[in-house]
Amino acid sequence: MQSPIGIFDSGYGGLTVMKEILRKLPHYDYIYLGDNARAPYGNRSFDTVYHYTLQCVEWFFAQGCPLVILACNTASAKALRTIQQHDLPRLHPANRVLGVIRPTTEIIGQFTNSNKIGILATHGTVQSNSYRIEIEKFFPEIKVYQEACPMWVPLVENNEHEKPGADYFVQQHLQRVLAADRDIDLLLLACTHYPLLMDKMKQYLPETVTVLAQGEIVANSLADYLERHPETEQRCSRTGKRAFYTTDSTEDFDNHASIFFGHPLQSHHLAL
Ligand code: DGL
Repeated sequence: MQSPIGIFDSGYGGLTVMKEILRKLPHYDYIYLGDNARAPYGNRSFDTVYHYTLQCVEWFFAQGCPLVILACNTASAKALRTIQQHDLPRLHPANRVLGVIRPTTEIIGQFTNSNKIGILATHGTVQSNSYRIEIEKFFPEIKVYQEACPMWVPLVENNEHEKPGADYFVQQHLQRVLAADRDIDLLLLACTHYPLLMDKMKQYLPETVTVLAQGEIVANSLADYLERHPETEQRCSRTGKRAFYTTDSTEDFDNHASIFFGHPLQSHHLAL
């Protein structure tokens, strides 16, 4: 494997994004890294998320990746811009690092009629205000309500997301965000783990509210990016290989991964 596309997440959740990318763009080689040993990133400081993410991006570059996707919303919110502006020019000016916030915010207007939307995310993503700032650029008429759902990642990580205990926390945050404005007609799942709670959420939402996951949006945006940037596209190898790395136990990763990814895989350990 010479120059795979790198897909990064703080842990398992980015596999929900990778699954959609593979569906859309199966020919390329991919290398996935979950920084499980230091996850969750959701409650960590800007500085910490930036340093962890940068270290992982440098590792991807050392593996020969010309392009790295930060599938993690928290890393996209807290680290991406500094890496793009400050680190890329000195590390690898020809390489690219992309996140998940921009692809989502530039088309989010298509999914709302009322122009009132809720963003469900980790504390870190909400605190960064990244979604509000980016949506304002593309759709200034949209009013954004943000809700941090700190218990949702642990529910998914502990495989409790389909069990009755999850209902309380799902209901709690949905009620809270919808109470902010009765005209909200769109909820964005701005965290890699939340699509696994989709079925539960739908039980507690009126039919007038659409729930939007990012995987397909990110995959479509990547396809579009590669088409518009042949200089990067031509550097991505195409033998259909996939490799998976975790900074924590490979056994745990492989067991959890099938929940997120939909089928079994075998990971390698990376000591950072
Ligand atoms: N991957 C993170 C995100 O999308 C969720 C898990 C974490 O907090 O690390 O925000």
